[in-house]
Amino acid sequence: MRNEQPILEVISLEKKFPVYGAFGKIGGTKAYVNAVKNVSLKVYEGETYGLVGESGSGKSTTGRTILGLTEATSGQVLYQGHNLVELSKKELRKFRRDLQMVFQDPFSSLDPRQKIGDLLEEPLIIHRLGEKKERQQKVFQLLKKVGLQPEHYFRYSHELSGGQRQRLGIARALIMNPKIIICDEPVSALDVSIQSQILNILKELQGELKLTLLFITHDISVVRYISDRVGIMYLGTIVEEGMTDDLFARPLHPYTKALFSAVPDFLKKSLKERVILKGEIPSPLNPPSGCLFHTRCPYATERCRNEIPVMREVESEHSVACHLVE
Ligand SMILES: Nc1ncnc2c1ncn2[C@@H]1O[C@H](COP(=O)(O)OP(=O)(O)OP(=O)(O)O)[C@@H](O)[C@H]1O
Ligand SMILES: [Mg+2]
Repeated sequence: MRNEQPILEVISLEKKFPVYGAFGKIGGTKAYVNAVKNVSLKVYEGETYGLVGESGSGKSTTGRTILGLTEATSGQVLYQGHNLVELSKKELRKFRRDLQMVFQDPFSSLDPRQKIGDLLEEPLIIHRLGEKKERQQKVFQLLKKVGLQPEHYFRYSHELSGGQRQRLGIARALIMNPKIIICDEPVSALDVSIQSQILNILKELQGELKLTLLFITHDISVVRYISDRVGIMYLGTIVEEGMTDDLFARPLHPYTKALFSAVPDFLKKSLKERVILKGEIPSPLNPPSGCLFHTRCPYATERCRNEIPVMREVESEHSVACHLVE
């Protein structure tokens, strides 16, 4: 393993959402959706950690819980010697400048009544950073950095195309000079050519500003392109993690193999065996016993049905949670 300290460390993160009955809270809490379950990961400075998995696997909840946008049920998020999960809202504000988020749909996080220049300047005003002139200068610089034009300063966000809007979302995340950006499906709503433009902008900015990225996506090709390391999520847990090249050259978990099997390109080039998933993804309201994947795994044994597999490093920096991997 590396000897450097991670910039961000998540330890046994857990998020349960209460689910209410037909009569709301009056009937009491009936059940819990275990959206994130025992997730641990380390992110090193300057790298891109890609988190990939099917819809509903808990990727967004992991990202939101790390930032404190969703309250964790238990676990730790360590940043600069502090456990962010335990901080009060006021204490958390100090660190929130360093940790920003880019969303799939920047519309939902941008006030449509504000002009773009004002949207970008707002956090600087709130944090009382610089005089009016300096602030405006910073906004114009940032527009240029993300590939928008000076005239966009006076427009509204609904007057931008989808790709331009995502550039604005990135600019908004960058305005406070963050250290870490959590990108939640930032290119999933865009067509392929615009996707690669946005991914390239993120890569360039990362190099220039020494940013650390946690990149969330369900798209295997995107995660392969952008990430240095990848974590594969299934039903709220990470089942395999490794350096991107190693993981794609030699996936170990049957679920990872199944995900890769669904991408025609990889099948031809690197995958030796094809794994076809059985059935549907189980409901997180009623997760399977033992290995969460056993109901869909073509290789499952009695042990898989009863015993929860733990993550263990089986090759250098390549870990997997599966009873069947030697
Ligand atoms: N606020 C909430 N209340 C109740 N359940 C929730 C809430 N947010 C998410 N969930 C549930 O938690 C699980 C994980 O959801 P999450 O949005 O994190 O998945 P995801 O991997 O980001 O999926 P997608 O790829 O579709 O964005 C899902 O079963 C979802 O229904
Ligand atoms: Mg999501």
